[in-house]
Amino acid sequence: MRILSGIQPSGVLHIGNYFGMMRPAIELQERGEAFYFIADYHALTSLHDPEALRRYSNEVAMDFLACGLDPKKATFFRQSDIPEVTELTWLLSIVTPMSLLEKCHSFKDKIAKGISPSHGLFAYPVLMAADILIYQSNLVPVGRDQKQHVEVTRDLGIKFNMQFGETFTIPEPEIRDSVAVIPGLDGQKMSKSYNNTLEIFGEEKALRKKVMGIKSDSQPLEAPKTGLNENIAWNLFKLFAGPADIEAMEKRLKAGGTGWGDLKKALFDQYWNYFAEARRRRAGLQANPGEVERVLREGAARARPIAQATLRKARQAVGLK
Ligand code: ADP
Ligand code: TRP
Repeated sequence: MRILSGIQPSGVLHIGNYFGMMRPAIELQERGEAFYFIADYHALTSLHDPEALRRYSNEVAMDFLACGLDPKKATFFRQSDIPEVTELTWLLSIVTPMSLLEKCHSFKDKIAKGISPSHGLFAYPVLMAADILIYQSNLVPVGRDQKQHVEVTRDLGIKFNMQFGETFTIPEPEIRDSVAVIPGLDGQKMSKSYNNTLEIFGEEKALRKKVMGIKSDSQPLEAPKTGLNENIAWNLFKLFAGPADIEAMEKRLKAGGTGWGDLKKALFDQYWNYFAEARRRRAGLQANPGEVERVLREGAARARPIAQATLRKARQAVGLK
């Protein structure tokens, strides 16, 4: 089984990225042949700052490795080190109805925010389809917001196969219900673009302040707490704490005398401990920048022949050469 996913280096990674995509991807590296990449071509649709793109690409790579991506088990590379994917994007474009792209939520959301769309932003899902199809992937672990893009990929793969003969494996998305949408510090979906993120790595004091600033209702300290399911800090606490700690905290909150402030303190401690080992690994990688570059180059060297073979097949199928 081949598993594939990508993550854009368009900002600093947060726990929504971690639980929605990175942790499932890291778990899946045990179960098949995994391919994970830094989607730098995609990031260019929103980021036009060369220095920032290079910095984020490097940081996202370090973050993913620190969180447990094992380059001995998974092939880890930069999307742009495999330029064949852009040629496949063109070949897929010829079977892509404009109307299919016009229906994509991520595109419509950006238009609604007043962003004037470039061709690249519009064609974003076709590049993503090329990413997935070029490695003949079976399974694509992503958060729920990417589900539609995987559906577009299936549509394009099926259409191409029907028109030009069997060329691509048709993939399935893998979306964990329990972590499909991680709430942000304001209760909306956590996202870089909403300024409501809790970063995976960062400076302790600033992160503690963010956690202590999470919104909650005004039930007094003594009150037995109600409405836990709507409480943002409680929902985040449950992501990090083990079953016994969750049960104990729930009892304390429901008994009264424990305030939302106490919950947020406990949440911060759980969160900080959860990533303690990853933080140590990340410090090691930071002290050794050549290591990350070496991993990405080795990954590209493994991924590229597979991409080349698929592209050759697709070129032949459409009648090039
Ligand atoms: P952002 O919304 O912060 O820009 P991306 O769109 O770059 O995040 O998402 C990268 C990956 O992380 C995708 O697989 C996406 O589905 C997942 N992801 C992002 N935010 C969340 C969230 N709040 N909950 C679950 N998964 C998420
Ligand atoms: N669009 C994805 C995101 O924003 C990133 C991505 C690019 C991707 N290519 C991919 C994810 C292929 C899975 C498979 O999160």
